Amino acid sequence: DWTPDSFIESTVRELQDKLGNDKVVLGLSGGVDSSVAAMLLHKAIGKNLVCIFVDMGLLRKNEFEDVLRSYESMGLNVIGVRAGDKFLSDLKGVTEPENKRKIIGRDFIEVFDAEAQKLTDVKWLAQGTIYPDVIESVSVNGPSATIKSHHNVGGLPEKMHLKIVEPLRLLFKDEVRRVGRQLNIPMEILGRHPFPGPGLGIRILGEVTAEKVRVLQEADKIFIDNLKEAGLYDKVWQAGVMLLPVQSVGVMGDERTYENCVALRAVTSTDGMTADWVHLPYEFLAKVSNEIINRVKGINRVVYDISSKPPATIEWE
Ligand code: XMP
Repeated sequence: DWTPDSFIESTVRELQDKLGNDKVVLGLSGGVDSSVAAMLLHKAIGKNLVCIFVDMGLLRKNEFEDVLRSYESMGLNVIGVRAGDKFLSDLKGVTEPENKRKIIGRDFIEVFDAEAQKLTDVKWLAQGTIYPDVIESVSVNGPSATIKSHHNVGGLPEKMHLKIVEPLRLLFKDEVRRVGRQLNIPMEILGRHPFPGPGLGIRILGEVTAEKVRVLQEADKIFIDNLKEAGLYDKVWQAGVMLLPVQSVGVMGDERTYENCVALRAVTSTDGMTADWVHLPYEFLAKVSNEIINRVKGINRVVYDISSKPPATIEWE
């Protein structure tokens, strides 16, 4: 019978046999999969695992610092790389969603590769690939792969002659979480909503700028903090805020305003392939809307997305 304990025990043994005294590099994203893969490898080979966590400047507010601290407290050997400026300057003037994805994916690979190449004697690249990813990448011509391109670590294996190790290849998401719980990974990481690889870059519709990132981070933090306070965070599969390329007229005191609009999105889902919008309580939505409009300079209107997938997608880009 499959249990987290038996999986951990046999996987650690297999990893030790396979890797011996070799050095392994792994890219951490702050998400569940890469974190669980890292902890399994850490248990198997300890300091021979080197993790790289890239800040694209497109994470949630304070997320890079918070997650980096969690990783360090888990005993991981982790290098944090701040590269936000590079991403922002390369995204300048770019508005088309797939172009944004390609640039963010390419930059991520460049930053990761440059950092990995500073390491000496690395033999393996570890990835947090799980079973649904394996299936998805087999059907490269299937609809999911062509609707939106997802990014992954690119040409590094060939360049550095790295072999690939993927300890979660046969697991489903819920099994990954169970293994993570058994490995004592903090709930802050394990219970985290899915977050797209390109981050806030695809939640800012149209061109991405530093100011828009800041505005969206503030609004997003208010939404997510309120979900947590109201005990709703764990009942929702994924939530976030979209910054729309729309300005509308408002009024503040005696002044007419002409500012941005954000859309709140919260969905239930099992795998992201289909999703339903969540019937969040009106009082809750009212509170979030008030806080965002009162506290985030530059936003004067909040709407709630009541579209399901299909035909809408979870992200707006
Ligand atoms: P959509 O918007 O396609 O999203 O309904 C389904 C799930 O995938 C996430 N998503 C991405 N994840 N790179 C990622 O790693 C991407 O380019 C990307 N686009 C969407 C989305 O957040 C949701 O969980």
